[in-house]
Amino acid sequence: ASVLVLNGPNLNMLGVREPQIYGSMTLDDLESMCQERAEQLGIQIDFRQSNHEGELVSWIQQARTEHDGIVINAGAYSHTSVAIMDALILSELPVVEVHLSNIYKREPIRHHSHISAVAKGMICGFGPYGYLLALDAIANILDRD
Ligand code: DQA
Repeated sequence: ASVLVLNGPNLNMLGVREPQIYGSMTLDDLESMCQERAEQLGIQIDFRQSNHEGELVSWIQQARTEHDGIVINAGAYSHTSVAIMDALILSELPVVEVHLSNIYKREPIRHHSHISAVAKGMICGFGPYGYLLALDAIANILDRD
């Protein structure tokens, strides 16, 4: 099985961006961690990041035929983007949402996510480890169906 792991805006700045919230791990470190877990789970992952909403939408559209599932941390677009939500719906793929921080413990603007409405489930607050939980979850979903 092949899973698209999508990262939204500002996640390319992991490691330097508000480390008290997001930790010291870089996006490259996070990708290595995910690749290792993917190997253990026997799945392929395509790990990507973009700061552009339209690019994320295009990648999700392509995933419809190229991948079997999506793990997504849409960053701030989680709270704003109906376009990403619509793309996830049209992909017809199982979606697992992930956030590094516990969005419910933060400012009220972060408490609502458009992604959650279309995701199988959501993991937040566990830092980079949340990505491993998300990969476990998507592998389990793909195993089931
Ligand atoms: C985030 C939480 C969002 O509110 C924020 O805009 C991000 C990162 C997280 O991983 O905790 O960019 O998605």
